[in-house]
Amino acid sequence: MIVLGIETSCDETAAAVVADGEDVRASVISSQVALHAGYGGVVPELAAREHLKNIVPVVTATLEQADLTPAQLDAIAVTACPGLVPALCVGVSYAKGLAAASKKPLVGINHFLAHIYGAFLEEPSLLESPETYPVLALVVSGGHTAIVLIRQTGRADIIGSTLDDAAGEAFDKAAKILSLGYPGGPVIDRIARDGNPESVDFPRSLTGRTGKPAKPENRFNFSFSGVKTSLLYRVKDCELNDSELADVIASYQAAIVDVLVTKTIDAAGEFAAPTVVLCGGVACNSRLRAKMGETVAASGRRLVVAAPKYCTDNAAMVAGLAHHYVRRGDQSGFDLAVRARLAPDLGILPFAPGA
Ligand code: KG4
Ligand code: ZN
Repeated sequence: MIVLGIETSCDETAAAVVADGEDVRASVISSQVALHAGYGGVVPELAAREHLKNIVPVVTATLEQADLTPAQLDAIAVTACPGLVPALCVGVSYAKGLAAASKKPLVGINHFLAHIYGAFLEEPSLLESPETYPVLALVVSGGHTAIVLIRQTGRADIIGSTLDDAAGEAFDKAAKILSLGYPGGPVIDRIARDGNPESVDFPRSLTGRTGKPAKPENRFNFSFSGVKTSLLYRVKDCELNDSELADVIASYQAAIVDVLVTKTIDAAGEFAAPTVVLCGGVACNSRLRAKMGETVAASGRRLVVAAPKYCTDNAAMVAGLAHHYVRRGDQSGFDLAVRARLAPDLGILPFAPGA
């Protein structure tokens, strides 16, 4: 089955062609980073206008790369939620038009779940094996920070999420405070390599390690607004030289990574999950990849981490996940609506062996 995926939930216009949920025949991403950099974050209306400009060239280039015409596709998948509504509308309207014109099934995809699927794109056979489950997934992006438990039956539950900022936002806002540009994650990752991660003891909120003890209901929840405020006070009215700046940044990154790894491994133990998944844009972070790798391996579990090109927003993860919905007989009507927020009910995931 050949699926065209379309992704416009934030500031990347992306399309991909994926065969049978795993064979990525083409993947094109047009990034708007430069457009939004001056604002320190994504401006939804500007993003929508840019998607409108890019969507036709991006889909055309993708089909050309895959050497296919729309008539040769089996389905058209598009991110319908969660995301910026004006941005989502562009992709969904375009996908509806293409599906109607080419008489192909339309499938609305949840971007958050697509990030999880992205981790398996290079090793999809793991999804078929009952031994892989339950899967404990940490989804860390600019919009989300959540721990999801996926059972062999396909049932997926969010067992923890952030009470305020997402981890990606914590990186982006820190970069804004330090005038390092947007997005902040990649630049912080780079500068942190030259710093000492133990030079500043930034708070690890809701872990009980610093500040007030965490309430039991927050055991798997996150909070990153405190560490951001702490950074703000640490650098306020300070002239930092390059080496002091690198130390502060390395320590800030270490605090965020520490919390993400500790809570994920705790949850994997609590739910006896043999597999831990790391995905979403922040999963590109080199310290997070290394520390999660060491900790998961030491606990005798398997870490499945998205390849960097499938961590940040892309459409291969959308088309790949869609394959499993179409195979199950799930498709969307032309009344497919967009939604900004992540609905708490993730439904029964179609790729699990017992689904
Ligand atoms: O998944 P994504 O492309 O978009 C959303 O769905 O939000 O994630 C983007 C986020 C941004 O906040 C960006 O700063 C962060 O991922 N990010 C990183 C790194 N690369 C991207 N954060 C930390 N370290 C990185 N190397
Ligand atoms: Zn994303």
